[in-house]
Amino acid sequence: IRVVVLYGGRSGEHEVSLKSAASVLGHLDRARFEVIPVSIDKTGRWQWIDLAGIDPEEASLPILPDAPEIRLARGADGCGVLMPVVEGATEPIPIDVVFPVMHGPLCEDGAMQGLLELADVAYVGSGVLASAVSMDKDVAKRLAELAGVPVAPYRVLTRKAFAADRASSLAKAVEGLRLPAFVKPCNMGSSVGIHKVKTWDALGPALDDAFRYDLKVLVEQGIDAREIEVAVLDGETLFASVASELNPNAHHEFYSYEAKYLDPDGARVDLPARLDAAQMARVRALAVQVFAALECSDLARVDFFLDRQTGEFCFNEINTLPGFTSISMYPKMMEASGVPYGELLTRLVHLALD
Ligand code: DAL
Ligand code: MG
Repeated sequence: IRVVVLYGGRSGEHEVSLKSAASVLGHLDRARFEVIPVSIDKTGRWQWIDLAGIDPEEASLPILPDAPEIRLARGADGCGVLMPVVEGATEPIPIDVVFPVMHGPLCEDGAMQGLLELADVAYVGSGVLASAVSMDKDVAKRLAELAGVPVAPYRVLTRKAFAADRASSLAKAVEGLRLPAFVKPCNMGSSVGIHKVKTWDALGPALDDAFRYDLKVLVEQGIDAREIEVAVLDGETLFASVASELNPNAHHEFYSYEAKYLDPDGARVDLPARLDAAQMARVRALAVQVFAALECSDLARVDFFLDRQTGEFCFNEINTLPGFTSISMYPKMMEASGVPYGELLTRLVHLALD
């Protein structure tokens, strides 16, 4: 089975993908799968990367400017192929599965999934619809709420409305919300563009920055809560892992990009999370409920807040292509639930082929 590991991508999470993909490459069963790494650089150029040239000790896969360029296409028999972009060399390379180990807009939001559909190639992860609605934090929350899963209070602002009438947009954003609040671009991951706002004066600048990343921005009520995550794996029935808890180190205001990827002491993880049996069962059931409500497939990591005041879980967000780096929670939670990393990848490839 020929598996293309697609990595990099034109999103703010490009560097995270390089790390995720290095980890995936290190754990894919080479006896079972023929692995072809294909990188996408920040300009969107696809390149064939020679597996033999990759140092297994490196924590990130490389982007190699001189590597041969390649394109994904639909082959003569209607199956996905890689086409070398070299004059004279037009021999298509048939492929069986694409594993997009990439995160964020154009990678995880249905755009790439649409391209893979057009090329008639099987791929790991959710389809176009689930990818798109899961990436949009506003739509995801609305669908979760419709399915009966609680969410924390939030408001939505559009760049257009904010540009047209800053004062009334700000007033609308503040209405009914308490401080602190979180400002989040609607479609980003890894905390890119997120700000914690402690005074309403800080809201305007935070929105200005968040609108650099997205046309739609969320202002969320900051709740005094614990951060709990659950990994969900598709199969005959949906399987929810044991939950974990992230405790960002006190010198970080929240679980920021820096705390996640740049600071080795960014957070302490409790795996399993210190929950009682009823709480653990509840959050696992909610994760499955969200996964199903958003019509996801294959895998997703579902992130919750556990409100310290009410003791209730709120859905925060879902990641249909969660981080797979050496410190990422999705593979760790699966491992802690009896599915080792290598076996997890084998299962995901087979889910894509089913
Ligand atoms: N968006 C990052 C990769 C995550 O959720 O793990
Ligand atoms: Mg999260």
